[in-house]
Amino acid sequence: MHDILPRETPLWQGVEHTLRSVLASYGYQEIRLPLVEATDLFRRSIGEVTDIVEKEMYTFADRNGDSLTLRPEGTAGCARAVIEAGLLRGETPRLWYQGPMFRHERPQKGRYRQFHQLGVEVYGLAGPDIDAELLLLSARAFRQLGLNALHLEINTLGERAERAAYRVDLVDYLQRHRAALDPDSERRLNTNPLRVLDSKVPETQAIVADAPVLCDYLGAESRAHFAGLCSLLETAGVSFRVNARLVRGLDYYTKTVFEWVSGALGAQGTVCAGGRYDGLVAQLGGPDTAAIGFAAGLERLVLLAEAVSGRSDPALHVYCVAVGEVPHAAAMGLAEHLRDRCPALRLQVHCGGGNFGNQLKRADKSGALYAFIVGEEEAARREISLKPLRRSAPQRRYAWDALISGLAGLTPEAITSYLNALAH
Ligand code: HAM
Repeated sequence: MHDILPRETPLWQGVEHTLRSVLASYGYQEIRLPLVEATDLFRRSIGEVTDIVEKEMYTFADRNGDSLTLRPEGTAGCARAVIEAGLLRGETPRLWYQGPMFRHERPQKGRYRQFHQLGVEVYGLAGPDIDAELLLLSARAFRQLGLNALHLEINTLGERAERAAYRVDLVDYLQRHRAALDPDSERRLNTNPLRVLDSKVPETQAIVADAPVLCDYLGAESRAHFAGLCSLLETAGVSFRVNARLVRGLDYYTKTVFEWVSGALGAQGTVCAGGRYDGLVAQLGGPDTAAIGFAAGLERLVLLAEAVSGRSDPALHVYCVAVGEVPHAAAMGLAEHLRDRCPALRLQVHCGGGNFGNQLKRADKSGALYAFIVGEEEAARREISLKPLRRSAPQRRYAWDALISGLAGLTPEAITSYLNALAH
């Protein structure tokens, strides 16, 4: 579990802001959900024999003896919430949530025990158009983050009954090759055989290569849905690869599943994953409701965004230095005025006293682009001295009032340009 330190938070905020504004542009609404749910909710939705439920949940008894679990994902809690709140009556909510999830996995780069997801869930829409919308939306978000090297893999898992028929033949095939399977896959053979398809062990992969494939077991409805999605994606110009071996580690999926994968993160390359889960809402006691969603792993997106982000906004435009009681009070007043007229200005006033040299050192360390200096003389004349901190240039005096009207209403970028122009 990691702290996200002040030097990292601007990048996180940037990624979150981009995702949120793309979601807003498609009309999606935020839902905020508890971090803790009844353990049973995850057992019933994610599935008893998945890795998550078998060995990764943080589960504890509360003071009443009820078994609770720190949420390992958001889909189950979101379905519970929309059922409880009656949001599905005649509505087709398109929702998103964001926050920490907890899985007791082996930590490594890109895999943590507390990690953050931004998840999207849509209810009540059964056709492939909404599947395509979610992929277009995610593609747009990744483009805006500058992540152009992600690729999209899609598959269909069909309806439950189709999968059950496939499972019988798959188990039969794998039983015949049991001796050559790795121990994990052998164990899964009886519990969750579809996950064997996902094995990364080369010997198992070789066996899986000749296994029966699920798409041969699909009925007309499932085929038409998948064909509809592929055609919508092609029309929209979204490139994708059909990966018939793509299965997911959670049991609730039906029909469409997908993953956005980066080649730059090694084994933890999946930055966003999801799919359709038409049976889950009814299974949890709600009305029979089609549903689809995905979740993006924010740690992985931040790692990638860090690699592509060249320009980063300064945390501070200005650090204001003022020695002596009267200049310090004047500087605080000036700063309040500036914040009134120019809310995007990032301005910190030195606090805690100290001589001029020490205050300037702080200004330099703060990362600010400029120092405003308010001495006795400046305070008396209602002026500041502007000192560039990131290059050597002479300091110059300006009248407060002129500065306030020059900065009024500017954006963060325009503030930087304005100060640069003044200092030249
Ligand atoms: P998931 O595939 O378990 O799906 O997780 C989605 C994404 O969360 C992964 O692709 C990855 O980027 C990130 N992630 C998962 N585990 C970790 C970890 N330990 N450390 C860092 N990042 C991680 C779900 O959770 C489903 N609820 C997605 C969904 C929503 N399906 C339908 N609606």
